[in-house]
Amino acid sequence: MPSPSSRLQNIIPSGKDGWEVHFEAWKRKEAGQPIIMLSVGDHDFDTPSETVEACVREVRAGHHHYTQLPGIPALRAAMAKISTRCTGIATTANEVIAAPGGQAALYAAVQGTLDKGDHAIVVGPYYATYPGTFRAAGADFTVVESKAEAGFQPDIAGIEAAVRPNTKVILINSPNNPTGAIYTNESLEALAKLCIKLDLWLLSDEVYWTLGGNLHASPRAIPGMAERTLVINSMSKSHGMTGWRIGWLTGPAEIIRLLIDLNLVSTYGLPDFVSRAAVEALENDYGVEAIAHLYAARRKMILETIRGLNHVTVRGSEGGMYVMLDVRAVEPNSETFAWAFLDAEQVSVTPGAAFGEAAEGHIRISLCQPDDVLREAATRLKRFVASYKRKAA
Ligand SMILES: Cc1ncc(COP(=O)(O)O)c(C=O)c1O
Repeated sequence: MPSPSSRLQNIIPSGKDGWEVHFEAWKRKEAGQPIIMLSVGDHDFDTPSETVEACVREVRAGHHHYTQLPGIPALRAAMAKISTRCTGIATTANEVIAAPGGQAALYAAVQGTLDKGDHAIVVGPYYATYPGTFRAAGADFTVVESKAEAGFQPDIAGIEAAVRPNTKVILINSPNNPTGAIYTNESLEALAKLCIKLDLWLLSDEVYWTLGGNLHASPRAIPGMAERTLVINSMSKSHGMTGWRIGWLTGPAEIIRLLIDLNLVSTYGLPDFVSRAAVEALENDYGVEAIAHLYAARRKMILETIRGLNHVTVRGSEGGMYVMLDVRAVEPNSETFAWAFLDAEQVSVTPGAAFGEAAEGHIRISLCQPDDVLREAATRLKRFVASYKRKAA
């Protein structure tokens, strides 16, 4: 075959990416071993039945055709209403554009703000797709790690020091995947001050906003920020709709208008019946409270069990679908820990090293399993930590 573009080949440079434990655990599970998978970030339950029924009704009603490029008007209006709640600042339909998932909204945000050779700052630990999203735009990026000891709040001085003349963007994610940290108003205000001073875009990934109790705050509401903030949102987590691929981007109307051109040449709009079901789910908050409640209860249960464990410290873990445990006092190498835990106790967790340097010495535990499975995993973790013998270097 003729050679593929270098752009395509550079999105994910080959090599280890820290997900080997997950794929090996999956293989063992498929082979019949009783593995508990705490390394996946997808709900263990189906989409709320009201949303499913709405979709069936819409598909039966014949809504099978092309839709408006930025989303059907009712969808943009419903998304704007949720953005007003999520960000705390009045948002209108022309300030949102629908996308097939939060990832596509992030892709649009990066394509819309960075030219080839421009530079971005990614606040780490970060969600796995971020580096590839910048590489796909031909943009350069620097990861500025947040410190575990600071509860994974962004390191403002480190971010400022990483700014270059060609820096145009800072990307943050709160509630955070993988750490579960929720950025404080103080952190957001310091970031906003920096963005205003240096005339930068702030891309704010808020896909877990409903899973943070009432702690979530958006930088978009800070004076001077609405004109330079792009908020990534999604129905995947809040509404239990990961496989439906529906999300949106909120930002200044002028850039949203330009991003419609990107949809013309990429998505060409969303599926009609999915859009209509999404409107109903957004307008009625289908599943939102129950899902938030479920994860809050699971987080509480796991953290209560872990807090009694010697040598394991909880970091971040205030929201989202994960908890982050500092296991450095047991085993400083997160991959060694994860492999040994899988082999000894048949539980798969994600080594922190998969999310960047700051999360080394940590493991990420997904809360996407039923309560009894999580309880059993916590028991196995306790047993493992109590008996683990670190190998001599
Ligand atoms: C931080 C973060 N952002 C964005 C996404 C993308 O979600 P989706 O494309 O399903 O909306 C995810 C998915 O896990 C995530 O964890």
